[in-house]
Amino acid sequence: MRDAQPSAIFLKDYSVPAFLIDATELRFELGEEATTVHSCLTLRRNPASDNATAGLTLHGAELELLSLAIDGNTLSESQWSVSEETLCIAEVPDQFELRCSTRIYPQKNTSLEGLYKSSGMFCTQCEAEGFRKITYYLDRPDVMSVFTVEILADANTYPVLLSNGNRTDVETLEDGRTRVVWHDPFPKPAYLFALVAGDLQAVEDTFTTCNGRVVELKIYVEQKDLDKCEHAMLSLKNAMRWDEQVYGREYDLDIFNIVAVDDFNMGAMENKSLNIFNTSCVLAKPETTTDAGFQRVEGVVAHEYFHNWSGNRVTCRDWFQLSLKEGFTVFRDAEFSADMGSPTVKRVEDVSLLRSTQFAEDAGPMAHPVRPDSFIEISNFYTVTIYEKGAEVVRMIHTLLGPELFRKGSDLYFERHDGQAVTCEDFVLAMEAASGMDLSQFRRWYELAGTPELDVSGSYDAEQGRYTLTVKQHCPDTPGQTNKPPLHIPFSVALLGEAGALRLNLQGQEADSETADNTEMVLHVTEAQQQFVFSELPEEPVPSLLRGFSAPVKLHFPYRRDQLIALITRDTDGFCRWDACQQLGILEMTAAMESAKAGADYQLSADFSGALAQLLADDSLDKAMLAMMLVLPSEAYLAEVFKPVDVHAIHHARERLRRQLAEALREPLLQTYERCQDAQPYQANAEQIARRSLKNTSLAYLMLLGEEGIAQKAREQFAESQNMTDRLAALTTLVNNEDSAKAEALMSFYQDWQHEPLVINQWFQVQAASSAPGTLEKVKSLMNHPAFDIRNPNKVRALIATFCVQNAVNFHREDGAGYAFLADQVIALNRSNPQIASRLLQPLSKWRKYPEAAQQKMQAELKRILAEPDLSRDVYEVVSKSVS
Ligand code: ARG
Ligand code: ZN
Repeated sequence: MRDAQPSAIFLKDYSVPAFLIDATELRFELGEEATTVHSCLTLRRNPASDNATAGLTLHGAELELLSLAIDGNTLSESQWSVSEETLCIAEVPDQFELRCSTRIYPQKNTSLEGLYKSSGMFCTQCEAEGFRKITYYLDRPDVMSVFTVEILADANTYPVLLSNGNRTDVETLEDGRTRVVWHDPFPKPAYLFALVAGDLQAVEDTFTTCNGRVVELKIYVEQKDLDKCEHAMLSLKNAMRWDEQVYGREYDLDIFNIVAVDDFNMGAMENKSLNIFNTSCVLAKPETTTDAGFQRVEGVVAHEYFHNWSGNRVTCRDWFQLSLKEGFTVFRDAEFSADMGSPTVKRVEDVSLLRSTQFAEDAGPMAHPVRPDSFIEISNFYTVTIYEKGAEVVRMIHTLLGPELFRKGSDLYFERHDGQAVTCEDFVLAMEAASGMDLSQFRRWYELAGTPELDVSGSYDAEQGRYTLTVKQHCPDTPGQTNKPPLHIPFSVALLGEAGALRLNLQGQEADSETADNTEMVLHVTEAQQQFVFSELPEEPVPSLLRGFSAPVKLHFPYRRDQLIALITRDTDGFCRWDACQQLGILEMTAAMESAKAGADYQLSADFSGALAQLLADDSLDKAMLAMMLVLPSEAYLAEVFKPVDVHAIHHARERLRRQLAEALREPLLQTYERCQDAQPYQANAEQIARRSLKNTSLAYLMLLGEEGIAQKAREQFAESQNMTDRLAALTTLVNNEDSAKAEALMSFYQDWQHEPLVINQWFQVQAASSAPGTLEKVKSLMNHPAFDIRNPNKVRALIATFCVQNAVNFHREDGAGYAFLADQVIALNRSNPQIASRLLQPLSKWRKYPEAAQQKMQAELKRILAEPDLSRDVYEVVSKSVS
């Protein structure tokens, strides 16, 4: 909160720090009213800085300064000055010891950044700039220091006291407090600092590294959650092994701790040897957690663990480089999850997310490159662009280099930069050096915002046996970027014949040894327009394009319906099979919406339902894939396809098509539902997850038929299933279809699970996502439910964000009440938790996509927020960039 309007900072203004901190000693006296932090920093001038006389400027926010001394001499008030965000000492020696004491109030810290309390325990979240809320410091990632941390706290209330590294001392003091000392031998930036104090229990295990070192693994939770740690522990051990085998990365300390906390702004945090997790990303057991929940735990545990190398051992020079660690680490965790389960399913899930949310970000007012040029508040840049598009950029390098050279490149990157704070450019340089590949044009992926579009057409010359692909690319303008040059796009293709994929002979390009006789090829699309000619083709092929989603682009190809059906039923690339289903679904949606506009009835095409019937009959198909292929394009994805976005027309057309599909496929869906019932006890393995997914997708369709017999099955599944996946799927379909058992089911579900906050979040979510009229009123009344707490981000996400993001028809109510509701929540959260407020705000920022009447109402709410006094930097940045 500030008087002047916040201003942006720029990558081009980066300069090295004027001082370095060799050692950081901290002493925390944790109290019930306040906490005192004593720091002792060993500072010296940075020889690399060209300012040899600069004073010392430290970051600090919301701190009470108690005392300040240099080399044992207390400074008088005239020797330093503080502002809202800094502490300046004009004259300092070249090398000195700075002692500083500050008082902070973790109990009052609702921003969940810095040191705060969650369910009675102390914990920290320092990334990106939270450490400055603990003590004055050079809170920037290129200042790395060796930390020694002393914690003093009441022994009864806080029996567990943790920080990074190894515990080197512990004693019980006469005053009833415990004193512990932790020392982390690895120099690290302050954003990786962590402290935890609480009444926690641990599940313990060990992992023996490839070099035979035994690592102690502990997951700390509240007593009541001890039975929900097994899956996270298994995931951790799998991730540790995988990183050794796939990347040659061994763990580097003797302890690895995970702590679960209820109140957390994001998913989890990779603090050195002391990962702190949102409970939603670590706790799992079959009775309380869905399959998706189990998979999320596996993915996030791995993600944070992988950061130990891609993030901690090699970190970011500045926050513009955030994707250096996040994009790479998301790519690593995606490959891990693919290896643990079904690679195609994982890929389709990730592409779905990217196309519905990242493409939307790229098309909106907050569009930014994977390496942004400027920001007002870095917390706003923990985005799908930095994470997911960043991961796609790393994946493209992997595709261009191939797995062996990519591994050589990553080995070189870790070897060159171990212990350093580096840039995205350093990563690309290592990949180039190891592979000999020229990535100069490829670098534009880091610099340009916006989603490139590929317009592709194909023509077959029967006489010559030639097939020509013409590829045009262009990238739309985004804020501050126009007339973009072409990108280097790896474009993976195959050509399907009647009897399978055809051998590819690309003219003018001597066959690449790897793909010479092969049926799949990565084309290098580098120009605004290019042609690729394939010869020796005995028949007109169906092109299978952008296989595996080889680049994060929008592909346009004028497919005929029979070609899409050929891809759906015969392509060898799982992603392309699924995507052909999506594209056919879009054709159906387009036709249905046009009919509705003309006041006519549309009838689902028989070739579409026929193709899906054929898939349902194919026992060789992965059931999870099949389940995904049955689902029509999501409303969120359709909102990226149609312009302007008429959410009501989309919703109604889609619901009609779903019902018609259920009618057309009634028999096979019923059979599938029965065939997928599980006999074995629950396990979160790929095979069972696939069965449940197909079973519950079938049930959701069948329920649309409004048949009592089927509703009975859903009610039985709700009452009898022993796992949360099946139970929640049944509850969801009862709610979405306004079943007569809905109210009772919701009530009994609440009663059964009221002591499990994570389950109650799902209960909120199901209700907030219902397309029934009156859901906004329901959501408002649920905000008064005793289980709701606006200070807990998981609850805000479950109820408010679900309503605004996953319930388009209700959020976009024609009277604008959905928009006003969101604005009210943003205003309420702006003071208490700016990060959450700013995230919540995003749906309003996309106002330009919608019809005129909606635009005006959305804009009016943005202006109302902008007029609020004391806007946080977080909210100010998003509103001010969106409103203009
Ligand atoms: N580095 C963390 C992760 O990707 C994200 C933490 C960011 N937290 C925040 N409040 N901005 O796992
Ligand atoms: Zn991360």
